Amino acid sequence: MCRPTYFDVSYAINPWMSPGKPTDPALAIRQWEQLRSLYQWYGHTVDLIEPAPGLPDMVFSANGATVVDDRVLVARFRHEQRGQEADHYRRWFTDHGYPEVHSAEYFNEAEGDCAVVGDTVLAATGFRTDFRAHAELARVLGRQVHSLSLIDPRFYHLDTALTALSDTEVMYYPGAFSEDSVAKLRTLYPDAILADEQDALVFGLNAVSDGLRVFLPKAAEALAKQLRDRGFEPVGVELSELLKAGGSVKCCTLEIRHPDRTPALVTG
Ligand code: ARG
Repeated sequence: MCRPTYFDVSYAINPWMSPGKPTDPALAIRQWEQLRSLYQWYGHTVDLIEPAPGLPDMVFSANGATVVDDRVLVARFRHEQRGQEADHYRRWFTDHGYPEVHSAEYFNEAEGDCAVVGDTVLAATGFRTDFRAHAELARVLGRQVHSLSLIDPRFYHLDTALTALSDTEVMYYPGAFSEDSVAKLRTLYPDAILADEQDALVFGLNAVSDGLRVFLPKAAEALAKQLRDRGFEPVGVELSELLKAGGSVKCCTLEIRHPDRTPALVTG
C-alpha cells in the first residue's frame, strides 16, 4: 500500500475527478489508515511503498505492478501525470529482492486492468491498458489471459467493474463490458455474482477478497448481502475521499501472490 501523503485531485483523467472540488487530505489519510488496520486485523501482511511528492495518485498501488509468484510486470501508465510512478514501483520490487522485474512495453495499468482468478488472468482494454499488453502479460506471468473490453467511461479500469473472489469465483457489473465480453464472462463463470448499477457506482466491485472476507466500500449494501448469502464475510470500508479520484479499496491495494507466503496485500 502507499500512504496518501500527497493525495489530491489536481488533474482529471477519469470522469470521477473534479479538480475544482475541495478534498480533505487528513480525512483521506484516516480512511486509508483504517483500511490498512483492517487488513492487519484480519492477519494480512501489509508492506508499504514510500509516497512521492508530485504524484497525487500514487496511493492507488494496484496500478503499480502485477505480481504472480516471483514474476513482476511493472506498469506503464497511459497518462503522463502518473508516468513516474512506475519507476518507484520498479525500485520497490528490485529493492525487495524480486528476481524477475519486467517493465511493460505497452500501456498497462497493472491490477487496475487485470484480475488474477486462480490460474487464469482476466485483462481489460478500452480506456487505459493496451490490448497488446495482454499477450505481454501472458508471456511474462506464464498464465492464460482472457481479454475483456470495457465500454463505460465511469468504469475505466477492470477493477471498478469486476472482483476476483476466489480461485474460481468472480463478481462483476455486466453494464461495464461489451456484449462479447459479457458472453465470455458468462461462459467462464456461470455462477458469478452480478452487481447492479447502484452498487457499481459506489465502487462496490473495487474490492479485495482473501477467499473468506471481502473488503469492499460500505455503501455497496446489496452486494454485501449477496456475498454473505454465498458464504463470504463482507467487510465494509469507508473511502469517500479517495473516491473523489476514482478509486477505492482495490485501487489502494497491490496484491502480492507468492506460493511461499500466505496471501499478502501491499497497500501504500
Ligand atoms: N485517479 C486515478 C486514475 O485515474 C485512479 C486510479 C484508480 N485505480 C484503480 N486501480 N482503479 O488513474
